[in-house]
Amino acid sequence: MANAQTPGEKLRWARANRRMFTGVAPRYDLANRVISLGRDDSWRAATAEFAVPDHCALALDLATGTGELGFHLLRRCDAVVGVDITPTMVEQAHRKVLERGAGKRFQLAIADGLHLPFADDTFDCATNAFALRNFADQPAALAEMRRVVRPGGRVVSLELTRAKSRLLAAMHRLYMEGVVPLLGAIASRGNLRAYWYLPTSVHRMPRAEELAQTMYTVGFRRVTYRLYNFQSIAIHIAEV
Ligand SMILES: C[S@@+](CC[C@H](N)C(=O)[O-])C[C@H]1O[C@@H](n2cnc3c(N)ncnc32)[C@H](O)[C@@H]1O
Repeated sequence: MANAQTPGEKLRWARANRRMFTGVAPRYDLANRVISLGRDDSWRAATAEFAVPDHCALALDLATGTGELGFHLLRRCDAVVGVDITPTMVEQAHRKVLERGAGKRFQLAIADGLHLPFADDTFDCATNAFALRNFADQPAALAEMRRVVRPGGRVVSLELTRAKSRLLAAMHRLYMEGVVPLLGAIASRGNLRAYWYLPTSVHRMPRAEELAQTMYTVGFRRVTYRLYNFQSIAIHIAEV
């Protein structure tokens, strides 16, 4: 599916996404854990490590959802800002921030990732996890992340991807279309719509090397990527 073109299309897209994630929010973490067979957290940990090899002052986690990647960043940074368009997802993140005593170090904001309310070069790095395919305009989302990260900082994206190998691609398809909607619906207690959407949303993702190319086109430097889970997961690492 192509990126949305007009502002009206982008707005409708963002609203539809918000509706979908509003329904999913309360059981999102559990559903994620089940669908990924317990691997999702290790991929987020790797994403944080790539984004912040040593230590940083301020990181952005775009489309933070329930904040899981933000907490990994928090172990490596003085402070983290998590941004998401869906208030109920942010509420889940906020509850964890309070429970874990992260207080002022983990700030949350509700905003559209295509129009971030931050000045240029605000952050040392930016991440997003399982989010890029939800954006109406993926190059615009990447460009916006690039804009708010200082020169030399990293933008790291963790996403589902389409395997190059035909055999692996067929296996993913079988799992995504046959098993995921069922597991997702059970774990989320009946939210079938969202978990039927998930397999189709994967087709919105370019292959890993195409996404790397898009990142260069957007203006990033030194783009690399790593594949995980039989080439079904990609982490792209790019420098501003
Ligand atoms: C699949 S969830 C991923 C959540 C989290 N990053 C994680 O690691 O699980 C996708 C998130 O993207 C958010 N999202 C979708 N469109 C967005 C937009 N235009 N701006 C900001 N967040 C958006 C949704 O609200 C949702 O929380």
